[in-house]
Formats: sequence, structure tokens, C-alpha cells
Amino acid sequence: MKFTKNILCIGAGYVGGPTMAIIALKCPDYKVTVVDVNEERIGRWNSDDLPIYEPGLLNAVQAARGKNLFFSTAIPESITDADIIFVSVNTPTKTFGLGAGMASDLQHWEKTAHQIVAYSERPKIIVEKSTLPVRTAEAMERILSENIKNIHFEVISNPEFLAEGSAVKDLLEPDRVLIGSQQTESGFEAARVIAAIYAHWVPIEKIITTNLWSAELSKLVANAFLAQRISSINAISALCEKTDADISEISFAVGSDKRIGFDFINASIGFGGSCFKKDILNLVYICRSYGLNEVADYWEMVVKMNAYQQERFLRKIIKEMFNTIVGKKIVLLGFAFKANTGDTRESPGIFVAKKLLDERAALVICDPQALENARKDLAGLDDGVIYEADPYRAAAGAQAIAVITEWDVFKKLDFEKIFNVMQKPAFIFDGRNILDHRRLFEIGFNVFPLGKPSLTHF
Ligand code: UDX
Ligand code: UDX
Repeated sequence: MKFTKNILCIGAGYVGGPTMAIIALKCPDYKVTVVDVNEERIGRWNSDDLPIYEPGLLNAVQAARGKNLFFSTAIPESITDADIIFVSVNTPTKTFGLGAGMASDLQHWEKTAHQIVAYSERPKIIVEKSTLPVRTAEAMERILSENIKNIHFEVISNPEFLAEGSAVKDLLEPDRVLIGSQQTESGFEAARVIAAIYAHWVPIEKIITTNLWSAELSKLVANAFLAQRISSINAISALCEKTDADISEISFAVGSDKRIGFDFINASIGFGGSCFKKDILNLVYICRSYGLNEVADYWEMVVKMNAYQQERFLRKIIKEMFNTIVGKKIVLLGFAFKANTGDTRESPGIFVAKKLLDERAALVICDPQALENARKDLAGLDDGVIYEADPYRAAAGAQAIAVITEWDVFKKLDFEKIFNVMQKPAFIFDGRNILDHRRLFEIGFNVFPLGKPSLTHF
């Protein structure tokens, strides 16, 4: 079959892989190629052992792979052949130099831009899929356009709003697709070309076009708003623990107001994931660089509150276990930053595990999908740490369980059986409020939920 367009995506990660799989699935008239510098990753995309776990993803990949979806490491040739290039390489927070700990490290993006120039022979549309600081497109456009070949590259910002664990569903039924372009004739034309991809399956009224800067900033602001809701409810969970209020009752009562709603209002051990913290710190950095210190401080508190919530959870474990956990066997139930993913980036589990190891606890880490990443996160520190996918085996001989991730399978465990194999007194710290606390107490556990009175037998 002759394809009407060649689409390339550079970066086969959590964003690039699933997004391209769905584009290929929904646009059989386009050829979609995904390239990455990481050979092993590409090898796994070409197998049935995909490098990331996402419900429904394997089916989507299998349906399109080899027909119009290809994974490859042949970056130069793929660039030459492409009409449209999505760039979805990682942009972690800088760990060095100016803006360290705050600004995004754009070295992969810039290197990619230079590669695009080097291997292009005709005009192309370049689409920012990575979340980038506002006005990056402008800088990239400069690198791309100041090329001696005199090729025109039109830069489009098309931020991705998919959440891990529901990526396939979010891609199939997005709330909106955002396309930012230069407000010029060629910019509008490029935006139309990108909109035409999504129009294969997304209702046209959900495709929003804006200027480049608004699209870039909207992504940061959307994530900042979502994270802010979590920090807000987590702040109140601390107050609940000092009073007789119950955070779940408050979430329900407050969320019942249609203007507020029930999403992102569940107290937790803290938000994780590759985006929230990075994007807010980016926003903070931009605001500071424009002298908007009050605005910067306001958003920075969202991140500080998140760190406070994790610290509070850890301190509670230590305090309630009689101020010493040396040699005590503690099970972390979950390690992924949220349910339905194996991703552990910025997971509160990493913080809690490291601190418990500092206190010389004997750790058991139990997660249905994230053990491979947990091992990498704790490499060098994990002497004696047990990684165990089976919760019943993990609990044998343990003194405490700390719930880190809200996996459904944890809600359905037989806690009577678990209690019977644990040492007594047995403790449960529910960092997600997913368990039936009254029932656990009746079984014999000492139960410490978040933002609710504890239930103890002492
Ligand atoms: C990335 C960005 O980190 C994030 O800011 C943005 O919102 C979406 O894209 P993600 O897909 O989760 O997020 O990153 P990751 O899973 O690390 O994937 C990036 C991929 O790019 C990796 O597979 C990496 O090997 C690849 N890469 C990186 C290249 O192919 N070339 C490079 O020069 C650098
Ligand atoms: C987020 C955005 O939702 C998505 O639109 C963007 O493209 C990328 O960043 P993601 O980080 O994958 O997606 O997951 P999300 O569902 O937003 O959860 C982030 C964190 O918040 C998780 O650690 C989750 O457990 C936590 N969370 C979420 C809470 O603690 N309480 C809630 O009520 C909701």
C-alpha cells in the first residue's frame, strides 16, 4: 500500500510509544515509524514483551505493527524519509549548572534538532511532544531554521495529556487535543496537517488550536492545577489527623460541589510520576526568571507540600513502631507511582524505601509490575532488600505493611491470612486509603490511615 504521509517519532518512551501506536492504528493511510537511540528498547517494542506496561497497549501495537507501524534505530534514514517528525525525547530536570533542580535539561532536544537538520533534504513539520519550557519552540525554530541548506521547518507544539495506566484510553478518547503554531500562513497550514491526523478519530470540536506559547504553557498549567489539587487535599489530611475529621468524608463533601468535582481529590502519600514535579519546577523557574517571585513561590508550595506529605508518612511509621525500626521487617505494598503502571519515576516509594533503609529496617518490596524498576531505583542500597511479587509471601514474618500504590489487587487481598503470617503487633500504614480499615482493625491489625483517626489495640 502507498502511504499518504510518513510520520516519524523520535523517542520510544512512555509518551512516544503509545501515542504512535494509536496514531498508526487510527490512520492506516499513514506510515508511522518510531526511532530511539536505545537498541534494547526498540528490540522490546518489536517483541511482545513491550518496554512499558499499559493496559490495552499490546493489542494496539500488535494490530498495527508491521503494517503501518515500525520501530527502528535507523535514525538518519527515518529523518530523511519523514514528512512530520514528533519529538518525544526525555527532558529531565537539570542536575547541574544554571537552573539545576528547576529548569529542564534540553540537551537531548537540541541534539535531536541538529540531527533533524543534518539528515533532512526537504521541508518538514517538527512537533514538540516532550513537555518543554515555554518558548523552547522558538529556540528550536532558530536551530532548525538557521541551517545552510535553507530548508523550512515549521515547529508545532502538541503537548500530550495522557496519564500512565490509562494511556490507551486517554489517547483514544482525549478531553482535547492541543495544537500550537506560529500565527503565520505556514504555521496555520502546519497546524491543519497535524489536526488532520487526530481528526481520524477525535471529534473536531475537541481539537484546539492556539499560538505556540499558549500550547506550551497550557501543558505546564494543566499539570500544575492537577498537582495543586492533590497538595491541597494532602495539606488538609494533616489537619484531619490532628482533629476528629475524616479526609475521605471531606473529599466526598467537598467534591460533591459540581464546581469542584471528584477527580484528583484523593489524599495520598504524595504524587509521583515524571511530569508533575518537573513541570511545576519549570513553571516556577520561568516565573522567577521574569521576576514574578510571588507567583513562583505560590506554585513552589505545591511541590513542597508533596515532599512534606511523604516525610509525614515516613515519620508516622517510625513513631508508631515505637521509634525504632532497626531490623524490623516492613513490606512496601506497591512501588509504582500509581496503579496500572510499572513506572516508578518520582514515586514516593523511592523516598520511603531509602529512608527506611537509612533507619536499617528490613525491607520487602511487593508490586505486580514495578519490581524491575524498583531494583534499578535502589541499586547499590538494596543489600538484603527482598523483591517479591506475591503479597502473601512478602508478608510472612513482617511487622508492618505500608501501602504505597493503589493497585486494585491489594484491595482484594485476604488480610486474615496475611495477619496470621505476620509478627505481632502487626501494623498497617495505608498511604492510599484503599483498605477497609475497620475490618483490618477487627482482624487484629493496628491501622494507620491517612487523614483519619488511627485504630489501635494499645
Ligand atoms: C518524555 C519527556 O520526558 C516528557 O517531558 C514529555 O512530556 C514526554 O516525553 P517519556 O516518554 O515518559 O517522556 O520519556 P522516556 O520514557 O524517558 O522516553 C524518552 C525516550 O527518548 C527514551 O527511550 C530515550 O532513549 C529516547 N531518546 C532520548 C532518544 O531516542 N534520543 C535522545 O537523544 C534522547
Ligand atoms: C499526569 C497528567 O495527569 C497527564 O495529563 C500528563 O500528560 C502527565 O502527567 P501521570 O503522571 O501519568 O499523568 O498520572 P496521574 O494520573 O496524573 O497521577 C499523578 C500522581 O498523582 C500519581 O502519583 C497519583 O497516584 C497521584 N494522585 C492522583 C493522587 O495522589 N491523588 C489523586 O486524587 C489523583
